[in-house]
Amino acid sequence: MSKRHIYIIACGGTIAGKAAAADDLTGYTAGAVAVEDLVAAVPQIADYAVITGEQFCNIDSSDMTESLWLELARRVQAIAVREDIDGIVITHGTDTMEETAYFLSLTVHTPVPVILTGAMRPATAISADGPLNLLEAVQTAATPGAADYGVLVVMNGTIHAARFVEKTDTTHVDTFQSRQMGCLGFIQDGQALFYQKPVTCYNDGSVFSSQGLSDLPKVVIMYAYVGMNPAAIDDAVRQGAKAIIVAGLGHGRMPADVWQQAQQAMKQGVVIVRASRTLGGIVTAVPEYDGTICANTLTPQKAKILVQLALSQSQDAHQLQQVFRYY
Ligand code: SIN
Repeated sequence: MSKRHIYIIACGGTIAGKAAAADDLTGYTAGAVAVEDLVAAVPQIADYAVITGEQFCNIDSSDMTESLWLELARRVQAIAVREDIDGIVITHGTDTMEETAYFLSLTVHTPVPVILTGAMRPATAISADGPLNLLEAVQTAATPGAADYGVLVVMNGTIHAARFVEKTDTTHVDTFQSRQMGCLGFIQDGQALFYQKPVTCYNDGSVFSSQGLSDLPKVVIMYAYVGMNPAAIDDAVRQGAKAIIVAGLGHGRMPADVWQQAQQAMKQGVVIVRASRTLGGIVTAVPEYDGTICANTLTPQKAKILVQLALSQSQDAHQLQQVFRYY
């Protein structure tokens, strides 16, 4: 079989990070190495694929923006439909990788695998994890059928679905976990092996797209805690928030005075989404919080993305809740 043609879109992050010393694992500059050098550092890639590289941006992923997401989704879409391309790998900072992955999984309709990867240690570090992660991302992208699982995150020998993956540790290389549902598979001896498949909507099952969207509606996330200031809800509404995600207590709850303020916001047409700061379990409808949308099992940051895309199509509460049921 001829080698697969994999297109690498480089966005920066620690995988492209440089530090002054090989034992400096935290004080480095992310997004300092160019895509050609990332690929050149892993000559084994040539055994699996022919590579084309593109530097989309070279940033610390803390600086990822919604307008870059829209641009990236359009770029990925344009490359994915090319007949000469068999798969796409996106190198990206790990801090917001799960958000970019989820956004792309909802907005890109692709016949080829799209894999995000990165690193927890800069390219200059002893035992840098980036080279192997890049190789394994290419191996996964070169696997026929890998597109059936939607946009994937490949890190530390493990394959995750964009919908369920979370960064769970500040510095460890096994930081990416799909805590609630488990990973989809592993890479072993150069082969991507899958064991389960998500049933949520993604890729061709998603009704969303970046085409025709020039921006996303303003949506804010509010973390609930003892002493939370209810005026924060009012401030967000005044600043033009169309929806507020409450990273709520337990089963998506909030202090009574915050809920009162949230109800005022709902009267002004602002959507209130109840997620949970516990980062586990399902948030479901309860009479006490009538009129709110439940984030299901989505983390607050992914609930934000889904409501932003859903609001681009409908403001109807029932339809919004249905979207959270299936995505
Ligand atoms: C970033 O997210 O760009 C920096 C951190 C990382 O990639 O691990």
